[in-house]
Amino acid sequence: MKTTLILKKLASELHASKNRHITHEKLSDEFKNLYTDMDFIHQCIKDCIIDPKVFKNANNLFFYLLISGDVIIAINLFPPIADGALDITHDNIHHHGWRLLTTGVISGDGYETITFLKKSHENISNGIVNLKVEDIYKHTKSEIKFVDSYQPHVVFHPKSTTATLALWSSEKPLLNQKIKKYLKNITGMGNFFSKIARISKLDNALGLNPTKGVYFHPENGKIVETQNYSKPTDGSREEILNCMFSFFQQIKLNDTNFLSKIKKTAPPEAQILCDMLMSGEPIPDYGIKGNIRRRFSKKEILESLDLKK
Ligand SMILES: [Fe+2]
Repeated sequence: MKTTLILKKLASELHASKNRHITHEKLSDEFKNLYTDMDFIHQCIKDCIIDPKVFKNANNLFFYLLISGDVIIAINLFPPIADGALDITHDNIHHHGWRLLTTGVISGDGYETITFLKKSHENISNGIVNLKVEDIYKHTKSEIKFVDSYQPHVVFHPKSTTATLALWSSEKPLLNQKIKKYLKNITGMGNFFSKIARISKLDNALGLNPTKGVYFHPENGKIVETQNYSKPTDGSREEILNCMFSFFQQIKLNDTNFLSKIKKTAPPEAQILCDMLMSGEPIPDYGIKGNIRRRFSKKEILESLDLKK
């Protein structure tokens, strides 16, 4: 079956479901078959990077495979931090608002993460966010993971690149007519990049203000809400392309016919990486420099949580 059809089938099962939590759970075996199937993953990536805009505009660590209404299927990259420091946050503590997420590790050793109790970020006193830890674990290939809506969590940079397949949906069918119209427009749009722009507008339409009550960090021994959070990019195009190609090499995506074809329309940095991939020359797993405003250590976070509560 064509990859698009497989992805669309997953999306339609979620669209038809009245209880999205149960459907995420029900789809998990099927989902595991997909993220462990390298032929499937290779094809999904090829379908995505055949669009020259993906490399040209490479500034974040996602590959969107399908955007259909409220359902998004994507590959997420978790590269190391370039200076090699350990247990550094990949992003601030955050939650995904109204979205449910099922995630499985495609490649690499996985990443360390802390999940907090759903909505525990809403317990704020004197500016201190009283997050309650649910679990501290390493998300690896062996286990599929589910992140609930409004469930804060934090991910730490791994030592070497890890990639995940992510399945997102809203927590319940969206009944509001205005929202339905919005989602229909997103699905109808041909261009992925305009779809992505509409998704962030959708957050606003659903009452999730992406800059308020979503991001948190440790400060002076306490967890506080991050003010004016902003992450326009994960890094420069050069950095991100290196992460992407390092991942392609990790999963042995080295189909010469395909790569020579996409090389023709690729930006110069990607052309060099295409050659390295085809010749088998090791692509260093440099990772990303990150940003000081999103850089916190696991120790700082653990020390800021009142674990006695
Ligand atoms: Fe997240």
